[in-house]
Amino acid sequence: KSPDYAEMFRAHDLLQKFYHHLLVNTKEGTVATKYLQQRGFTEEVINRFKIGYAPNTWDVASRFLEKRGFNLHEMAKAGLIVRKDSDGTYFDRFRDRIMFPIWDNQGRTIAFGGRILYEGEPKYLNSPETKIFNKSKTLYGLHLARPEIRKKQQVILFEGYVDVIAAHRAGVENGVASLGTSLTDEQANIIRRNAENVTICYDSDSAGINAAYRAASVLTNAGCTVRVSKMPEGFDPDDYIRTYGYESFQNNVIGTSLTLMAFKIEFLRRGKNLQDEGELVAYIEEVLKEISLLPKAVERDRYLRALSEEFSISLDALKSEQYQIYRKLR
Ligand code: GTP
Ligand code: MN
Ligand code: MN
Ligand code: MN
Ligand code: MN
Repeated sequence: KSPDYAEMFRAHDLLQKFYHHLLVNTKEGTVATKYLQQRGFTEEVINRFKIGYAPNTWDVASRFLEKRGFNLHEMAKAGLIVRKDSDGTYFDRFRDRIMFPIWDNQGRTIAFGGRILYEGEPKYLNSPETKIFNKSKTLYGLHLARPEIRKKQQVILFEGYVDVIAAHRAGVENGVASLGTSLTDEQANIIRRNAENVTICYDSDSAGINAAYRAASVLTNAGCTVRVSKMPEGFDPDDYIRTYGYESFQNNVIGTSLTLMAFKIEFLRRGKNLQDEGELVAYIEEVLKEISLLPKAVERDRYLRALSEEFSISLDALKSEQYQIYRKLR
């Protein structure tokens, strides 16, 4: 029997509305509501992002779906419930979690990300891949961000759901997130189809900074012009907005992002002791390699001069070294 796509979409839609209702209108949702309020979620964003709550039981979702005539076997294939192998009964996949619906580009709910309240593992439980949910081709929030992306001709790329939502609250409405995984070529192509300019605004921890470096090259290969935002070490965009406010986020994070080259220079410098002769030489080689990849001679010249001044190395020496590297690369 072939999978019934329409039924899968309908089940996701109804369950999304049900989870949202449980969060907003019922007593079971009050702890979750309080949690969201503490994290600065407003009523407006809870409604706009259709956030919900899956209660702490094993069968609310299964009973809800069964009562509406859905085939539970199909619902397990849709990733909404889980079949117990031992006796063939079904139980809810998401329990006691904040539910973030994930949409396709038409705005249909195709999956959920569920966050545990407070601490615990896994922090996020996401729907498995299904016939309607291909993770590597999905960007969280794209459907909602598209008008602003088109207007600004720019995408802001975040790591997490919560960052997209916090940025939205701060008036930055062209944000999407890559769903935790490293950015795929397909996601980069989707971004490129919507806008050329991308500002990467990942978490400012080593995982996030390394991921930003990789995402930058995936995006560059897709034809995007990339900038990278800077935040104090240890902050993610949501933390930053809650600590420093909307205005500072717009002005000091989004507004003053680094060019890709400036980011790479900082990246290559991380953890290196440039007082050490060997590490300095290695660093300069790496920077020269990046300079060689720049398409414009004027740009190459500018960075060579900056290097020359910073480390008191003759421009001629740097130029001849860079030329060697350039020849090797072509
Ligand atoms: P908060 O802790 O709620 O602020 O979320 P966050 O977005 O800061 O989380 P984090 O930076 O740890 O992770 C970024 C993204 O990676 C999340 O939005 C998820 O999509 C994904 N992610 C994080 N933790 C997990 C996990 O335990 N399992 C899975 N599958 N994905 C995760
Ligand atoms: Mn992170
Ligand atoms: Mn984070
Ligand atoms: Mn975190
Ligand atoms: Mn966070």
